[in-house]
Amino acid sequence: MCGIIGFVGRGQAAPILLDGLERMEYRGYDSAGVAVRSESRGLQVRKTKGRLKNLADMIHGGADLEGCLGIGHTRWATHGEPNDINAHPHVSENGQIALVHNGIIENYLEIKEHLQKLGVTFTSDTDSEVVAQLLEYHYNECHNMLEAVGRVLRRIQGSYALGIICSDYPNALIAARKDSPLILGYGEDGNFIASDVTAIIKHTRDVAYMDDGEIAVLTADSIDVFDDELVPVEKERHQVDWDVTAAEKGGYPHFMFKEILEQPEAIRKTVSPRIRDGRVVLDTFSLTAEQVRDISRIFIIACGSSYHVGMVSKYNWERLLRRPVQVDLASEFRYSDPLVDDRSLVIVISQSGETLDTMAAMREAKRRGARTLAVVNVVGSSIAREADDVLYTWAGPEIAVATTKAYSTQLVLMDLIGLYLADLLGTVEQSEYDAIIQEVQLLPEKLQGWLADVHNVQYFASRYFNHNSIFFIGRNLDYAMGLEGSLKLKEISYIHSEAYASGELKHGTISLIEPGTLVVALGTYAPLFDKFISNVVEVKARGAEVLALTTEGFREKMGKTADAVIAVPETHPILQPSLGVVPLQLFAYYVALQRGCDIDKPRNLAKSVTVE
Ligand code: F6R
Repeated sequence: MCGIIGFVGRGQAAPILLDGLERMEYRGYDSAGVAVRSESRGLQVRKTKGRLKNLADMIHGGADLEGCLGIGHTRWATHGEPNDINAHPHVSENGQIALVHNGIIENYLEIKEHLQKLGVTFTSDTDSEVVAQLLEYHYNECHNMLEAVGRVLRRIQGSYALGIICSDYPNALIAARKDSPLILGYGEDGNFIASDVTAIIKHTRDVAYMDDGEIAVLTADSIDVFDDELVPVEKERHQVDWDVTAAEKGGYPHFMFKEILEQPEAIRKTVSPRIRDGRVVLDTFSLTAEQVRDISRIFIIACGSSYHVGMVSKYNWERLLRRPVQVDLASEFRYSDPLVDDRSLVIVISQSGETLDTMAAMREAKRRGARTLAVVNVVGSSIAREADDVLYTWAGPEIAVATTKAYSTQLVLMDLIGLYLADLLGTVEQSEYDAIIQEVQLLPEKLQGWLADVHNVQYFASRYFNHNSIFFIGRNLDYAMGLEGSLKLKEISYIHSEAYASGELKHGTISLIEPGTLVVALGTYAPLFDKFISNVVEVKARGAEVLALTTEGFREKMGKTADAVIAVPETHPILQPSLGVVPLQLFAYYVALQRGCDIDKPRNLAKSVTVE
């Protein structure tokens, strides 16, 4: 949700800001803007609705703006429609302060009304402009920017990552953060702020993560950080080891396609370090068998695709642990007065580690005494830092808005955690444990082999892309996997789609099946294959066109009922979704391609959802 960047240093700021914004455009893309300051030209603000390219064209790749100090923003609108005026940066009434904001100021109306009564004129509908105007107000009172920012932060409620420049401070960039990510980058030729490390990794890998309530003052040669009482704080610095090329398209038509193809490697990187001598080793999660036995309830909490990983894990963990596992949507959990206590284990899953609902749910669980374990992709993200324990998925930077490789790595990591807990509880037979360990290590190779020929999926996409409504049906793990297949399709191709537990169809939804309706029949879960075939027959009998996904072993049998079949290699049943989901991702991708959709940046969406 919105990306912000700032630079102060020895080079020209505008091209650096544009480049960083391009790498963060997945965070929001309905308008963009920059503010750059120079001695001779003062504060230059340019902003426009639409994609970043509009802004880049408007300022000729940055050449029109002069100055070594600047801030930039790419927006995902919350308050006020996406237009030129509501685009950031916002400038205070006297034109001296420019500001970019990611987050939501919850009490903005009350502050706005107060300032309006004092005679301040607002130009936009945004909550963010209120911060700029309030800052001018307090700055006029105290004539000290750090003090003024401190006063503003005490007045505003909600979430924010802020980048601020002020004409009276020609060499300083000021930043503040609460509940929205913000990274400080220590460069050779200047210093940076950014919502996401991918925006600045080209310039520096030396970073610090700002904590809630902190304010930073950056110059070309220094970064000073203060707490909410304006007392200086020492920041721990980290080296980012992500490969720069991982965040680039590298000749692929879309990030999503590249990231789908990166899955074997991402799975390998996530699994290999965690298996030693045939056993699961989770170095950063060290519950003893006694502590695990003492757990009375297990919760998995997440949003969107990460929640779908939770749905698969519920089936797998209950089978392995013989314990009830509750999966909750973070946005529901946080307000449900959940039955969580100090004997609960709460697993939160998040690619970005910044999803506000997931973070709030985790905080609620912690407040009630639960032990929290975060499964996160972005190192140093807020959820990763606040959880009691964190296990990283090593998917690398994921840029396409629709998740693929992060989902796959979450899935295998959750399988490993489930196996680890089952081992501690003694609820898994040694032979099954060994079989899963063996198969999980073979996943990358099997997937790589299958990915060598994706053309059949492309063919089916070209055959079915003009359907208006598509149903994904399956039982057990296939149902959970279908939830993800359906979400992928709807988010990038805009086709209406539903995922259904196939046994449930006859209780209502089957009335929607009519001649020509496309049903994607997911029959990869071997233990229920025969039961599932009956459901396929039921929809066929109502005239559905059936595209089936199954395993090589069932290809022939499935072919007798379905109109078309895609088959993936077999693996241990609990791991089958790791192979099955990939054709579904590709199907969504190719359908969206056929329909001419903007695959990496689907409408209305953003990658990191830092608003409620
Ligand atoms: C869908 C997708 C979203 C995310 C969801 C949670 O392709 O990416 O549904 O899974 O917004 O995001 P994270 O995992 O970052 O918490």
